[in-house]
Amino acid sequence: MKKSILALFSVSVLLSTIATFSQAEEVATLRDNTSISDQKTAKKMPNVSNTDIKQKRNYPMQPPIIPHKVRNYQTNLKVNKCMSCHSRNRTDESQAPMVSVTHYMDRDGNFLAEVSPRRYFCSQCHVPQLETDPLVENTFVDMNTLMKEKAKKAKAEQE
Ligand code: HEC
Ligand code: HEC
Repeated sequence: MKKSILALFSVSVLLSTIATFSQAEEVATLRDNTSISDQKTAKKMPNVSNTDIKQKRNYPMQPPIIPHKVRNYQTNLKVNKCMSCHSRNRTDESQAPMVSVTHYMDRDGNFLAEVSPRRYFCSQCHVPQLETDPLVENTFVDMNTLMKEKAKKAKAEQE
């Protein structure tokens, strides 16, 4: 009795090991289906999109993406390069949009004189874009498009 359970167990371990190995060959989607054991020469790094043009926000609370380069802009205990242009009292000089008031609020909704510690590390939420194709397909549909489609359907049903 005990022996047969042990035998079953080892067979299932063997099977799952085989399964993981054959999967490992397929999981390489971001590596152009290159197997894990191969090392390909890296592609050229794509350019950062540096259009200086505001991009559409896909939903109201989306942190806007950064339309300029941020290379070597440091954010640490002593300096915050981003705030040297985006803080309230620097926007006349920089012509950058001011970080919105939410960036000056603490978690209880009180307004602070300085940018809130919750919003200090900008790249936690804001990122620049690269001039390249997306690595994975994205099927996100904007709410407005959904509402338009729904209205169209309702109208078609009425007629
Ligand atoms: C030298 C000044 C300067 C610095 C430093 C700077 N920005 Fe900007 N930023 C701008 C200006 C000007 C714009 C307006 C669009 C443009 O000209 O690129 C802008 C636009 C943006 C926007 C788009 C806002 C919107 O409404 O779409 C975001 C987000 C942003 N910056 C984030 C950052 C972050 C994060 C950093 C630090 C990593 C940073 N910026 C550093 C000047 C600056
Ligand atoms: C925790 C996430 C988070 C962090 C950290 C953060 N932001 Fe934002 N930011 C947002 C969101 C969400 C919005 C849009 C809604 C809003 O204004 O609160 C926004 C809006 C902005 C805007 C557009 C303001 C406007 O009125 O058009 C700018 C510029 C910006 N952020 C810059 C910055 C900079 C610079 C920093 C770092 C000092 C920073 N943000 C840190 C989430 C964040």
